Amino acid sequence: RQPTDSPLYPLLAAATDFYRQSLKSHPARKAAIDYLKGRGLSGVIARDFALGFAPPGWDNLMKHLGGDALQQKAMIDAGLLIENADSGKRYDRFRDRIMFPIRDSRGRVIAFGGRVLGDDKPKYLNSPETPVFHKGQELYGLYEARQANRDLDEVIVVEGYMDVIALAQQGLRNAVATLGTATSEEHLKRLFRLTPSVLFCFDGDAAGRKAAWRALEATLPSLQDGLRARFLFLPEGEDPDSLVRAEGHEAFLARIQQQAQPLADYLFQQLAEEADPRSLEGKAHLATLAAPLIDKVPGSNLRALMRRHLKELTGLEGETAPAPSATENDSQ
Ligand code: GTP
Ligand code: MN
Ligand code: MN
Ligand code: MN
Ligand code: MN
Repeated sequence: RQPTDSPLYPLLAAATDFYRQSLKSHPARKAAIDYLKGRGLSGVIARDFALGFAPPGWDNLMKHLGGDALQQKAMIDAGLLIENADSGKRYDRFRDRIMFPIRDSRGRVIAFGGRVLGDDKPKYLNSPETPVFHKGQELYGLYEARQANRDLDEVIVVEGYMDVIALAQQGLRNAVATLGTATSEEHLKRLFRLTPSVLFCFDGDAAGRKAAWRALEATLPSLQDGLRARFLFLPEGEDPDSLVRAEGHEAFLARIQQQAQPLADYLFQQLAEEADPRSLEGKAHLATLAAPLIDKVPGSNLRALMRRHLKELTGLEGETAPAPSATENDSQ
């Protein structure tokens, strides 16, 4: 998926060092330190996630990494510099932002997310797609989660960088985030190679609930018997960061234990909201909606149980399509 060697890796590593050093010693660093402290983050967590600071100004990184034309071309390829199409002028992509390095499974920095210190827009800026960064495939925090845990009994999937880091700060070092993209089948395949259990915990807002349903759809094709996915829905207006900081780690774990909803429960509950099984029309509609989803499940026991449940709800068998074969599944 990724080149094993690329001149972009050492460049991205050097940029990471520069941003980290700037957080420690740049004259403008105080605002960044205050921001991180204000969000409840310690120096230990900043170190573990290699957080940094891109100082204000148009050419700090460009000057630091120096450079001849060749080096600058590589910096453009790495997404670190932007070249104005008209004037040809080059400048740092990330300016006056908290920097979140995104690492691949081997721990190499492949991209950055950068957050403004205040309320400016855009709030987050990400590296563009580059030869070493394919944003739809990566999960922020996965390298760090694997470093912190010998075995990953469960992985928590959240929306944002700060959610991953706030959970880690509270001792929950098993969270990952998609990078502003929907959870994909590819993400789930990767996760289930590392853990038997995935917990989705998105923001308590309309976007978060929509993301949860998309995550359910992306999970179905990975659900072998023995694996599970659960959903934790947060109170309106909260995200994992705000909640874990307000409640603390124990209350958050209790919430998971008491409220996390198994995937099949969530699926039937959600469909029953769309198609009310108290009427025959609703039953017919529910079966139409449920059957293709159930057919995606490769675990034959879970698939059989879901079909039985659909039959209990509607009286219909729901066996509108044959079970997915291995080849059908792979081609999706
Ligand atoms: P904080 O305000 O730092 O707590 O951010 P958040 O993670 O709670 O942000 P939000 O819930 O609004 O968005 C979730 C995720 O979507 C973020 O972590 C980013 O990855 C992404 N995102 C949010 N805003 C932007 C944006 O303006 N541009 C881009 N590219 N991504 C964004
Ligand atoms: Mn590639
Ligand atoms: Mn949100
Ligand atoms: Mn959020
Ligand atoms: Mn947030």
